[in-house]
Amino acid sequence: MVMRTKAPPPVRSGARNGAGRPIAVLVVHGPNLNLLGEREPEVYGHTRLADIDRELQQLGRQMNMEVATFQSNSEGAIVDRIQQARGKTEILIINPGAYTHTSVAIRDAILAVAMPTIEVHLSNVYKREPFRHRSTIADIAHGRIMGFGAESYSLALQAARTIVDAARVATSSAGRT
Ligand code: DQA
Repeated sequence: MVMRTKAPPPVRSGARNGAGRPIAVLVVHGPNLNLLGEREPEVYGHTRLADIDRELQQLGRQMNMEVATFQSNSEGAIVDRIQQARGKTEILIINPGAYTHTSVAIRDAILAVAMPTIEVHLSNVYKREPFRHRSTIADIAHGRIMGFGAESYSLALQAARTIVDAARVATSSAGRT
């Protein structure tokens, strides 16, 4: 497997920021990402999607995160899955694939569920064709990680941990005032 797993940050514990409760994460992969490992390996690498998902679940367990994964080639199915996550998932990690550049429906679904979102790409889209430079979700994402191959996802999962920890601290502080 190509993907490297760095030592995750220690799991913080205690009721102060709700860190004892596992973080529910949804990872969504868009069209053609089911073919990772076979599809344009010079661009996307040799790691298969099943390996990425397995690695994320393993890394998630080390960081007290419950990682659900989903892939679809269909825009509507992706919208449905994001909607289903409402109220059940704390943070979304999404690689919308080619829909990154076109989909208002995925953007609207993310806005509708009002969930912090990390946009992920295996390739650095800015080193590629100009049509890939546009993203319909860049301005609503918490952040974007791209260009690290399969490792983009594990970096995103680590960032997700930090984002949710900070949100939980903010919520518990607000509750005390
Ligand atoms: C991609 C980049 C997109 O432009 C492309 O359509 C993909 C994969 C990436 O992960 O680098 O399918 O999202």
